[in-house]
Amino acid sequence: MAVKQQACYALTLTSLLLALLHQTCRTFAEELKWDQNGYVLYCPCMGRFGNQADHFLGSLAFAKMLNRTLAVPPWIVYRHHAAPYANVHVPYSEFFQLEALSAFHRVVSLGDFMEKLAPKNWPSGQRKAYCFETAAQRSADKKSCPMKDGNPFGPFWDYVGVEFDTSVLFGGISFSAHHQPLWMKKFPASEHPVLALPGAPAQFPVTEEHVGLQRYVVWSDNMVEEGEKHIATLLTRPYVGIHLRIGIDWQNACKMLKNGEAGPHFMASPQCVGYNRLTALPLTMTMCLPDLAEIRRAVKLWVKKTSARSVYIATDSESHSMEIEKLFEGQVKVVSLQPDSAQTDLYILGQAEHFIGNCVSSFSAFVKRQRDVHGLPSSFFGMDKPGKLNPKEEL
Ligand SMILES: *[C@@H]1O[C@H](CO)[C@@H](O)[C@H](O)[C@H]1NC(C)=O
Repeated sequence: MAVKQQACYALTLTSLLLALLHQTCRTFAEELKWDQNGYVLYCPCMGRFGNQADHFLGSLAFAKMLNRTLAVPPWIVYRHHAAPYANVHVPYSEFFQLEALSAFHRVVSLGDFMEKLAPKNWPSGQRKAYCFETAAQRSADKKSCPMKDGNPFGPFWDYVGVEFDTSVLFGGISFSAHHQPLWMKKFPASEHPVLALPGAPAQFPVTEEHVGLQRYVVWSDNMVEEGEKHIATLLTRPYVGIHLRIGIDWQNACKMLKNGEAGPHFMASPQCVGYNRLTALPLTMTMCLPDLAEIRRAVKLWVKKTSARSVYIATDSESHSMEIEKLFEGQVKVVSLQPDSAQTDLYILGQAEHFIGNCVSSFSAFVKRQRDVHGLPSSFFGMDKPGKLNPKEEL
């Protein structure tokens, strides 16, 4: 670091412009001082983007609760249908501003942590894994954390460049706030500087108290630029954005609701039925898996209410764009981009005048939370007013 700073300094003498660089280098060096209060590392190893985002908010809260810096992991993107036919690890900052998180709590990207801090302060040979005793039961000796067992665990830590040397097991403790003193006592940063966990130290779906942390998840400049370009070229405002979660895996998941294997709290559904189990509204099949009649009804309703001139469809399978176009006799433009990256859909849905989401989907939940931050309205299929059943809804 000293060499780097000196290099920066020499450059500043040459021009005013480079003085700026000097400033950057200094902040850089300051930012990457080792935090005596320790770090939290985890693999976002459960589910796709929506689930990872839910877990991220809880993990951010957990790191703050322990006053440890959060090493922000990359997103795991599963590209098994197209090249490179493997997991892709996308740095947080590609989609969102890392700096925006700092308004809430100290963070460092996991990449920077590994590159700039780990060699000196968390060298190989001293890398401990932390996990629940129950998780370690799955290992051969029943005493090792299953950090790299299977996909996506193995590829993730390989990407990060970590082998774990020993395991520290715990039990009788949870990630919730009332166990804060227990964590501090069991794992003081002086003895346990880096808490590396096999999964997110958080619940799924995100708890009600952490929903608001969404405000610190701010799109990167590149994402804004790309998203705005699509909106300008494809859509005419006002537009209604809809998320169709209707593919075969979802049809199977919603069968659990039909069979009574799932109750009102099913995946992301607390966002619309309410977080309190005792007072949760019923979760209907229409909310989980809207049929074409419901899709038509809801789209028609909100297009009319908002005088929309276009409809944007994000879908996991079919877009039903022909059927939706027919509803408006060519008066409303219907667009389904089906972009390569799900984040493009998330951005465009987030900017719509109105959004109709899927109650049970964490992908929809991300959009809903993001819109709530900006005071933009959202509804769900089968539920026009979040938190209120549709008048005629049958179970
Ligand atoms: C939290 O950690 C920061 C950075 O290590 C430190 O400056 C601050 O005093 C800590 N706060 C508490 C309450 O321990």
